[in-house]
Amino acid sequence: MLKGKKIILGITGSIAAYKAAYIIRALVKKGAEVQVVITPGGKEFITPITLSALSSNPVISEFFSNRDGSWHSHVDLGLWADAMLIAPATASSIGKMANGIADNMLITTYLSCKAPVFIAPAMDLDMFAHPSTQQNIEKLRSFGNHIIEPGEGELASHLVGKGRMEEPDVIVGVLDRYFDGLGSLTQKKIVITAGPTYEKIDPVRFIGNYSSGKMGFALAEACAVQGAQVTLIAGPVSLSTTHPGIRRIDVESAEEMYQAAVRTFPDSDAAILCAAVADYRPEVQSDEKIKREKTGDITMHLVPNPDIAAALGKMKQAGQRLVGFALETTNEVAHATEKLERKNLDFIVLNSLKDKGAGFRCDTNKVSILEANGKLTEYPVKPKNEVAGDIVEKLASLLK
Ligand code: C5P
Repeated sequence: MLKGKKIILGITGSIAAYKAAYIIRALVKKGAEVQVVITPGGKEFITPITLSALSSNPVISEFFSNRDGSWHSHVDLGLWADAMLIAPATASSIGKMANGIADNMLITTYLSCKAPVFIAPAMDLDMFAHPSTQQNIEKLRSFGNHIIEPGEGELASHLVGKGRMEEPDVIVGVLDRYFDGLGSLTQKKIVITAGPTYEKIDPVRFIGNYSSGKMGFALAEACAVQGAQVTLIAGPVSLSTTHPGIRRIDVESAEEMYQAAVRTFPDSDAAILCAAVADYRPEVQSDEKIKREKTGDITMHLVPNPDIAAALGKMKQAGQRLVGFALETTNEVAHATEKLERKNLDFIVLNSLKDKGAGFRCDTNKVSILEANGKLTEYPVKPKNEVAGDIVEKLASLLK
């Protein structure tokens, strides 16, 4: 709900700046308070008079007021806001935000802003597709900013017009939904497993897999943003967490992950098992580095690891929820259904390796959610943080 929310609308110098007028109108109609900050370039495209009339607030552009010389405090403005929306965001402003080049009031406000930031890029297709722009956008995403990509709206088609700013009502809808969902997991305790496991062979070798942990970390962040207390049980990954609502337990092997999960689950409302757990480990872990044999093969005997999901499925009490993942290469739905039942899950997130932009080591994912009642929902390819948002929304609806 946008009612009563304080929104900073940052406008930069794009031809799409005229659409900011419609954005203000839609925000105000939904009951939000809007403070416009515009770059010098932005004023070439739309006049501050129009913007202040629509927002009922004076427009800020310079560090000092032209009228009385008083200082506009970007720090106070950044603290005042419940959200900052930069629409349209040009390639230049995106570059400045990504690299901290604070040479105007809008960028300094962005750097001071403690509230969530939404960015709607607007530029021509070639500029948008340039690696420089794409890298800056990725950088902004990694800072936790929400990118309202052209094409996120229901009407948008794939590449046609990509780079053109998303329509005002879609942009306002993204903010509206964001505030709607806020706090949907308040007071809930969620355990999340993430990343690969390493199964030790000897002091220098292990059996592992390509899982980066990105999906699990995005889930931890998304749950924490919704107010949950998260316990993130992470296998060996090179990722960090920033949200204060996340407590992290680092583990290495499946056995350690299992121990941490069964210890923390009883006191939790839900667990999301996102880790790519090794199914087997070497029966013997050598204390000494195994030497190369001069001749012939060597054989390693593997024994099964505990299935964490199945173990938690057995422990699950009424009211607790359990979410698993399935990565299948054939007969996806049939295998996922079998897994869902065997592990006593409430729903299973199915990702297929066949889809481009899905699975290990990439920043996007394409998933379907299969629920215990047989309902299957398919989602398009999305950045992993947005996929996490979809999963968290489903979980929150089951925990109400
Ligand atoms: O059976 P499969 O490994 O395909 O099941 C995948 C799901 O089970 C994932 O949610 C994964 O995190 C979980 N799992 C687990 N412990 C294992 C193996 C898988 O929790 N030992």
